[in-house]
Formats: sequence, structure tokens, C-alpha cells
Amino acid sequence: MKQTYNCELIQKDELCPGIWDFVVKAPEIAKQAQTGQFLHIACGGNTLLRRPISICDVGGKFVRFAFQIKGEGTRLLAAREVGDIIDIMGPLGHGFTANPGEKAVVIGGGIGVFPLLRLARETDSVVFLGFRNKDMVVMEDDYNEANGHVVICTDDGSYGYNGFAVAAMGEYLLENKADVIYCCGPKPMLKTVKQIAEYRKIPCQLSLEERMGCGIGACLTCVCETTDEGMAKMKQVCTCGPVFNSKEVVL
Ligand SMILES: Cc1cc2nc3c(=O)[nH]c(=O)nc-3n(C[C@H](O)[C@H](O)[C@H](O)COP(=O)(O)OP(=O)(O)OC[C@H]3O[C@@H](n4cnc5c(N)ncnc54)[C@H](O)[C@@H]3O)c2cc1C
Ligand code: FES
Repeated sequence: MKQTYNCELIQKDELCPGIWDFVVKAPEIAKQAQTGQFLHIACGGNTLLRRPISICDVGGKFVRFAFQIKGEGTRLLAAREVGDIIDIMGPLGHGFTANPGEKAVVIGGGIGVFPLLRLARETDSVVFLGFRNKDMVVMEDDYNEANGHVVICTDDGSYGYNGFAVAAMGEYLLENKADVIYCCGPKPMLKTVKQIAEYRKIPCQLSLEERMGCGIGACLTCVCETTDEGMAKMKQVCTCGPVFNSKEVVL
């Protein structure tokens, strides 16, 4: 059984309406956390199951995560106050694998931008971040601090590049080479990035999102289809992922 920790909420900020940025004191998790791994958080109230939220950043004894209010669990979590104790299991799952010296493209959309911040900081990369509109743009300053090549894109053109982040990435790849693509975002984004990566023969790692129960491989709530044969075809996103080689998953 993966260990749980009582973590003090040190800081909370609302990034835009309904999207919260939390920092908790969690030295054991901070020590182990790899980019792309997630936390399984007990939200309290009547929510018996924990909710998976990606690790956004770590520093010293502290772990940062950000989340959008979707339903009861995230609503209860957002109501926690600084000084409260949050019950967190983690870090869980299999994160991104980055190699020194590689030229990377990092691409994220919506809440999928949160787990990519450390990759943006730690790799030699160009970063494409997609949002619906100007009001939904979050963490722009964090990304600009982490990486000198950040392209903010909005679907409606109200800020930055006018159009989807995948379109901006596609244009970039017409004239530039990349050794690897890292992506986290909604399914249509993952699908398009997978297609572009395979067409251009660029290795690609995708972070998948599925509803989760246990978070530790036992309940099979989170399975996804892979290209493996037989029994290994369906894999648990919580333990085999959430990050997969794009060639391994069927989207
Ligand atoms: C590995 C992983 C990492 C995640 N990281 C983040 C993160 O960093 N920030 C963030 O805001 N969210 C993240 N999510 C999504 C987050 O877990 C869900 O939004 C949350 O569990 C919803 O819980 P709830 O109780 O508020 O809503 P519920 O009442 O459980 O559901 C409300 C709505 O959200 C949908 N929903 C619930 N869980 C998921 C899910 N896993 N994927 C898609 N839709 C879902 C439901 O279908 C329903 O429509 C992540 C999910 C996974 C699997
Ligand atoms: S959430 Fe239970 S097996 Fe993945």
C-alpha cells in the first residue's frame, strides 16, 4: 500500500475563476516526486474515493498542485483554508522520462498545463500552451520564468497565437527539429499530437487522464487500451501511466 501523508496547506491562490493553485508542506512526497506523477487526495465530506491531481512543482519540503473545480471533490478541496491538513497519497504513477541534451517540444492544454512546468524548466524546449480564451490563461509568468520559449495560444485568438496549440506546434515543426514531444491535455489534443509525432517520426510521451478509484492498480477503473496483445492490452493508467509512449496507446 502506498503511504499517505498529512500535509499542511501553506498557500492557496485562485488563478482564474474555479481554478486553484495549492502549495502543501509534504517533504516525503517532494523528495520522491518525478515530473508527471500525481497525488491521490482525500477531499473530505461524502467523497469516499480520493481524487487524482498532478504534481505541478516541488521545492524543498513543498509540493504544488493546481486544479479546476469539476464536482464535489474538487469543490470541497478548494474550500480548504491555509493551515488545514490535507490527506495525500503519493507520489503515484509513472511520469515523464527526459534525457539530457535532447531538444524537446512541450505541449499542454487547459488543466494539462499543470504537470508540464518542471519539464519546461528542466529541458531544452519550446513550450506551447493552449487555452480557450484570454481569461482562462494560467501560469503564464511561471512558464516564462521556467523557459525562454513559451508560446501561449488561445482557441478564440483573444490572446497570443490565434488558434489551437497543436496548430502552433505543427507550424513550428515544419521548420524546426525536435528529439521528443511531451504532451498533457484533453483527448483531442493528445490524439492530434500523437498523429503529428508519428508522421514526423518524433518520439512522444503522452499523459493520459481517466477516472480513478484506488490509484494503485487494484480496481481497474482506469484502464486504457494499448497496442500490446492479449492480457496486456488493457493497462491501468494509475500504475502503468499516466505517462505513456504515444505508440503504446490507442486513443
Ligand atoms: C492522473 C490524473 C491527473 C490529474 N491532474 C489534474 C490536475 O492537475 N488538475 C485538475 O484540475 N484535474 C486533474 N485531473 C482531473 C481530476 O482528477 C478530476 O477533475 C477530479 O477527480 C474530479 O473530481 P470531482 O469530485 O470534483 O468531480 P466528480 O464529481 O468526480 O466529477 C465531475 C465531472 O468531472 C468528470 N471527471 C471526473 N474525474 C475525471 C477524470 N479523471 N478525467 C476526466 N473527467 C473527469 C466527471 O465525469 C464529471 O463530469 C487529473 C486526473 C488524473 C487521472
Ligand atoms: S484507479 Fe484503481 S486500478 Fe487504476
